[in-house]
Amino acid sequence: MPKTKEKAKKIPGIPSGITLEEARAWTQPRVSKKRFDHICGVAQVGDMIAKKAGVNRLLVGLACYLHDCCKEVKDKELIERALAFGLELSAIDRINGHLLHGPVAAMTIKQELKISNKEVLAAISEHTLGNVPMCEVSKVVFLADCLEESRPKDFTDPIWQGLFSTVADDPNKKVNLDKAMLIACDLSLSNLIDVGKPIHPKTVDVRNHFLGIVRTVEKSIN
Ligand SMILES: [Fe+2]
Ligand SMILES: [Fe+2]
Repeated sequence: MPKTKEKAKKIPGIPSGITLEEARAWTQPRVSKKRFDHICGVAQVGDMIAKKAGVNRLLVGLACYLHDCCKEVKDKELIERALAFGLELSAIDRINGHLLHGPVAAMTIKQELKISNKEVLAAISEHTLGNVPMCEVSKVVFLADCLEESRPKDFTDPIWQGLFSTVADDPNKKVNLDKAMLIACDLSLSNLIDVGKPIHPKTVDVRNHFLGIVRTVEKSIN
């Protein structure tokens, strides 16, 4: 479990004194044991990536512990809650209500835990599909969700490789969140094609966004 004694001080949108223990304890009764184990695993990986990427560990930790708090809410209820929160729903959202567990979680947390920090809410909302653009906290949480230890190795190994591609020749360099995001998007897309599932247009936009970033960086080096 990541260090949780660090308290939030003077971070916009974070209630004073909130701790990771509180976020963890708030989520636990809302999910099954299996889901909670996944959430704790995401928090652990997220903390490690945050450290290596120089991203705020408290914001990452809060988003990790809260990201799947609505994952076990039924699709129909997610759609109802999303509409009650005033979220705009696409046709795909209405067919695949489970895709709303991130956005609905973000709205629930804002209302119940009074967390209004933009990065934390974005990370929770975007953890399933990503977004264009994404802040660093959101990238770390997205990747931690992909890299949590129960995920298959043929999915996680290439993402880890991409993440540490910058660190191979210089351990003091930050990990490469953008390259890891690109690989995660590519693998998710090919998995969806392999199993014949529909692809959300946002997944394609997010993939192309990170492809552009990675290509630009590679061109500037070569
Ligand atoms: Fe999720
Ligand atoms: Fe998750």
